[in-house]
Amino acid sequence: MSDEKIVRMIRSSSVDDISSSVDLDSAYGPSGFRGLLKSSNILFYSLFASLGGFLFGYDQGVISGVLVMHDFEARFPRVGGNGDLQGWVVSIMQLGAFVGALINSPLADRLSRRYSVAVACVAFLIGSVLQAAAVDNSMLFIGRFIGGIGLGQISMGVPLWIGEVAPPNLRGSAVTLQQFAIACGIMISFWLDYGTQYIGGIGEGQSQAAWRLPFALRVVPALTLLTGCFFVLPFSPRWLVKVGREHEALTVLSRLRKMPENHPIVQAEIMQIKAGARFDALTIKEKFPNAKTPAQIAFQQYKELFTQKHLSRRLFVACFMQFLQQFTGVNAIIYYAPKMFKSIGLSGNSVSLLATGVVGIINVVATVPAIGIVDNFGRRVVLMVGALFMSLSHFIIATLYAIYEHSWADHLSAGWAAAAFVWFFVFNFAYSVGCIAWIYPTEIFPLGVRAQAMGIAISVNWISNFVIGLITPIMLSQFKFGTFYFFFAFTMILFCWVLLFLPETKGVPMEEMDRLWGGNEGKETADRMARIQQELKCESRNVPIYRKTGSYSDDLDIELQDQY
Ligand code: BGC
Repeated sequence: MSDEKIVRMIRSSSVDDISSSVDLDSAYGPSGFRGLLKSSNILFYSLFASLGGFLFGYDQGVISGVLVMHDFEARFPRVGGNGDLQGWVVSIMQLGAFVGALINSPLADRLSRRYSVAVACVAFLIGSVLQAAAVDNSMLFIGRFIGGIGLGQISMGVPLWIGEVAPPNLRGSAVTLQQFAIACGIMISFWLDYGTQYIGGIGEGQSQAAWRLPFALRVVPALTLLTGCFFVLPFSPRWLVKVGREHEALTVLSRLRKMPENHPIVQAEIMQIKAGARFDALTIKEKFPNAKTPAQIAFQQYKELFTQKHLSRRLFVACFMQFLQQFTGVNAIIYYAPKMFKSIGLSGNSVSLLATGVVGIINVVATVPAIGIVDNFGRRVVLMVGALFMSLSHFIIATLYAIYEHSWADHLSAGWAAAAFVWFFVFNFAYSVGCIAWIYPTEIFPLGVRAQAMGIAISVNWISNFVIGLITPIMLSQFKFGTFYFFFAFTMILFCWVLLFLPETKGVPMEEMDRLWGGNEGKETADRMARIQQELKCESRNVPIYRKTGSYSDDLDIELQDQY
């Protein structure tokens, strides 16, 4: 849509006219890589914030290598090797993250998105120092739990922030950068463990630095992100509007879009945000006149999430997608790949470790195309293709496993074929549900309940992650090939669910999501919206409109009484 048309709409009629999604979308420019390169500041900010994703991946990945290091096993016999507490030292982090994701909602609303991430970094740093310096089990466990809280907060706060600063045409790609960073974190921690295990030798003489170093190194990206929260990342303009700092929001938005404050696109976007925020606030005020304190308001908002049909529908989608992301079995592979590769006949420690290293590399590489496609092809089609190939992979691995279970040694090629399908699975996970499960929760909720809803959704990710970590070893030893049929079933469910029920959100501005999910119908709501629109229309009349010399027609210049 031309700038002219947007200007006319701003000046003439209602917010609804201004925010016709398709038009505004095309006004923003290209999506994918081209769009990101054009909006270099969005690219820079998203990459910077994605340091949080890097911490997430690094923390998930680092523990498996540490647990089998000689010096670590010697110092923590109940935790390392085959110790009885091994499962718990891994999963206590996920429990911490579950709590962290939930508590970050009020923090992200009260302190701001960016400062909630700063608080998270502090928790993460405390946890990292305790783990790196651990002298006994309790120090290790407490360190992992506190670090986990920080991680859960980060995994909720970072995509929330990115989703709120990105324009609609780049939202998917920008949030995908955090998945890319997660994958990099997993890969780097794996190879780092692989390298540091040689400090002092892998046997008796192994130095404690072999495992303390990978724990300690996390401090570097965490400190960088912490500093960046104060000096690099701007406030989310949506949060600023939510807390009534509308003028600042406009300034930030114009910086983010690299356009003057009075540019029609910036004006149209700020109006959409204001309309959405005012609508949410007014709804709560009118529906719950007795809710006065922030805690009372937050309580009503949580309640609305479960009782309003259109909100509970969105909540279900966000949570179910997180659940299914975990039940594709990705972490069964990431946590237990060496064990799996051994069980399908790839003999020798180094072979199975190398096969695991390949998992990490594929996971990173396959995330890259997602950055280019999620905003172009749309979320649905990418999810369906990914789900279909993931199920195919599980099915083939399970079947090969069932046939060759007792004769892998005589059928080496079957073992390698199964390994190849494990890699193929990871490839398909990485560009599809790996990324898209993070995109939906950031974009489908109204501003008023976004932080609460995201906290719940991301906590579902962590609790499901915890369950997978717990049940996979049991399933592998009891059901063997059945484990892969189990995951096959969930990837098929993902496919069918997306095909039949999931709406496409590509390019839809956050403030227009109601169109996809229903809700906010009825006379009362329409009246409320009309009042807000009237208010905003009056405000917009006082905005001098930016003019690119020669780009507007004469009659438009007159109509706008352009002051420039
Ligand atoms: C998941 C993690 C998983 C990672 C693999 C993320 O999206 O939430 O649990 O380990 O992808 O890259």
